[in-house]
Amino acid sequence: MYWTRKHVLVCTASHCMQKGANNVAGRLRIELKRRGIDDAFMVNTCDSIELCDIGPNVVVYPEGHIYCGVQVADIPDIIASLQGGPPLERLLVSAEAPAERKREAAYRAALDASQDGVVPAEAFEALVAEHGFDEGWVAEQARRGFIGRKEVDGRPVITITSKARTRYRLTVAGSEATRSE
Ligand code: FES
Repeated sequence: MYWTRKHVLVCTASHCMQKGANNVAGRLRIELKRRGIDDAFMVNTCDSIELCDIGPNVVVYPEGHIYCGVQVADIPDIIASLQGGPPLERLLVSAEAPAERKREAAYRAALDASQDGVVPAEAFEALVAEHGFDEGWVAEQARRGFIGRKEVDGRPVITITSKARTRYRLTVAGSEATRSE
């Protein structure tokens, strides 16, 4: 590594791997080498950064930019950005990004309607639908560990996991969800 200009971390934990993170990391390394700039930009793989539903995720330091949903086709633009171009707005995610705030609002509404983070599955689906999220999104949230499914008294319920609460900085006080800054 020595004294590289930027450090790129590609999450290759299981959820991002399922969506092609290994190819992204491999091709990025190859492209940097092919262009003779691999001494300036270091690529490493890393464990989950807990944005598992929107991967594959890539973090660029020192800026701390997080790119989500990265595919091999994005690599030329990522390299252009590494070389001094602007950050890739279409892939950039942060706590304040509109898409992330939308997800946060859906979870906030669900937590508001929950009892200690548990809400009937039907109610959860109806609430998140009001924020524009469909059954496929709910299934993805379950697959990536942001919600759990179980039955209580024979009725399906959704549990909002600590992974979701931490990501959206939400805490439950009684039945009231708040954002902790
Ligand atoms: S597996 Fe990549 S963010 Fe979780």
